[in-house]
Amino acid sequence: MEPTQSSRTNNSRPICDYENSTYRTDFWEGQGREYEDLAERIALRHLLPAQGQRLLDIGAGFGRLTDLYGGYEQVILLDYSRSQLAHARARLGDERFLYVAADIYRLPLATNAVDTTVMVRVLHHLVDVPLAFGQIRRATRPDGTFVLEFANKRHLKNIARYLLRRGVNPFDRAPYAFAELHYDYHPAWVAEALRDAGFAPDARRSVSLLRAGWLKRHVRARTLAAVDGALQRVTAPCTPAPSVFVRSRQHKAGEARLVDRAQLFRCPACGHEPLDAADAGLHCAGCGAHWPIEEGIYLFK
Ligand SMILES: C[S@@+](CC[C@H](N)C(=O)[O-])C[C@H]1O[C@@H](n2cnc3c(N)ncnc32)[C@H](O)[C@@H]1O
Ligand SMILES: [Zn+2]
Repeated sequence: MEPTQSSRTNNSRPICDYENSTYRTDFWEGQGREYEDLAERIALRHLLPAQGQRLLDIGAGFGRLTDLYGGYEQVILLDYSRSQLAHARARLGDERFLYVAADIYRLPLATNAVDTTVMVRVLHHLVDVPLAFGQIRRATRPDGTFVLEFANKRHLKNIARYLLRRGVNPFDRAPYAFAELHYDYHPAWVAEALRDAGFAPDARRSVSLLRAGWLKRHVRARTLAAVDGALQRVTAPCTPAPSVFVRSRQHKAGEARLVDRAQLFRCPACGHEPLDAADAGLHCAGCGAHWPIEEGIYLFK
């Protein structure tokens, strides 16, 4: 096991806060994004190991993608927004799902807590990608899998805009902040950040190439998504689409066994693990902190 890093737990970074946001209804439901939703599901279905013991979805929001996790014995939905998790719980219940309100920079999961980690539509909100990847690496067991989606800076439309002198340079590898706490990333920059964190990227899909208003108005979402699905792998080497999915294996020394359910959590304040069950919550023997569970949600904020 890697040592716990108590000295690095004071990891506060600015967060794009979705608390009480209407993300589900304002962004997805009836908002003309059925094609993107379907295309992302195709990518994830191909990259995700079909079965496993414990899957962690970071920045899971209201649990949009959870129906793809049917092959996992336990699923942890983690998000900074408690209200998003409450929506997820109302729909999914407690049988296979755990709900954790926490910050990715201070991930309250023990070393080797999960075999698969998924993070979709979250990287574009992160100011400190290396810190986030380091936390994911610790929580994912040796030989585990990390499936990441990110917003691609070097996609076809951005290249065209640049050639017409209307946009930023998509070939420059540095992340591009197009709004506060909103970033586009160059695929090579992300691959390098993954490798620096100890992941080995081994498969990629270029997703939502057909995202154009006029196409979406004239062609059924299911048809567009089917075409997208057929193109995702063959176009992956040059990533022309605005969204990229990348799967990495996690190579780190140590035993590949997952921690038991009773040892699942780590203190986000001091790094002590595991936490002990205590009255309506968890107790940290390292710093004495109490982390409550309220309405079925573990609260680590
Ligand atoms: C655009 S939504 C994506 C939700 C979901 N993954 C999906 O694809 O439908 C981004 C989510 O990331 C969460 N988030 C942003 N920063 C976070 C952080 N530092 N720690 C944990 N969650 C975070 C937000 O609360 C929000 O629910
Ligand atoms: Zn503690």
